Amino acid sequence: MILRTVADLRAQVAEWKAAGQVVGVVPTMGALHDGHLSLARRARRECGRVITTIFVNPKQFNNPEDLLKYPRTEENDAALLATVGVDAIFAPAVEEVYPAGFVTSVSVGGVSAPLEGALRPGHFDGVATVVTKLFGMTQADRGYFGQKDWQQLQVVRQLVRDLNLKVEIVGCETVRDPDGLAMSSRNQRLSGQARAKAPALYAAMLGAARQFRDGVPLAQVLDRARAAVLAEGFDAVEYIELVDGETMLPARDLGAPMRMLAAAWIDDVRLIDNIAV
Ligand code: PAF
Repeated sequence: MILRTVADLRAQVAEWKAAGQVVGVVPTMGALHDGHLSLARRARRECGRVITTIFVNPKQFNNPEDLLKYPRTEENDAALLATVGVDAIFAPAVEEVYPAGFVTSVSVGGVSAPLEGALRPGHFDGVATVVTKLFGMTQADRGYFGQKDWQQLQVVRQLVRDLNLKVEIVGCETVRDPDGLAMSSRNQRLSGQARAKAPALYAAMLGAARQFRDGVPLAQVLDRARAAVLAEGFDAVEYIELVDGETMLPARDLGAPMRMLAAAWIDDVRLIDNIAV
């Protein structure tokens, strides 16, 4: 079942809730791959009813060209979701989500500021705004998000806490190809050569985490990791940083759960990844 309007979605969810069912939502922008499907499968296991949203959210693209280039593959997405057995796809038009006169923006402080937030101004405001709206529209009890977008996951957790939203956030493991590359819709845009080199980002992070645990000073570890990624054929490294995995502040307190996050360019494609350290 593909729903296009908030009214139809609300009516459907009201029926499910009246029957006492737990509703899970998997927010996506489409162009689905196994990573998305693993979120949908987990929601399928844990919730009575599952909605996957497919909406390419213009507010989170700070580069208009990126928005135009974003793959739109709804028919194929629907076929993939049918294999998981999701109950509904909510795929609204832009005007349904942002009707004329829409002026509100949700801006999450702190956790949104560094890394992706610093490099993609406005991106997390766009994400926070649409995710808040999707929770309001779907009235979901649980929201499933990938750990691949680690900072986004922390932004969503923070906004749910701060706004007292009645939704439980479930962060799901990153799904990787056998060579280690984290699954992403952007991987489709890699040339064969770039695809062969792309796992070097993950490999460099694993190496850096190992060296850090072995006592090599952090600055040296990160410098080596950046150099390794470039040596393996990436064009530029935007960041490889070790941060507190919840606040995104630079890792200082060795007791806090830490996360290494990276963003790098290869073949005109921007890849991000992260690992626990
Ligand atoms: O991770 C994504 O695909 C998007 O940022 C999300 C959460 C669907 C919001 O548009």
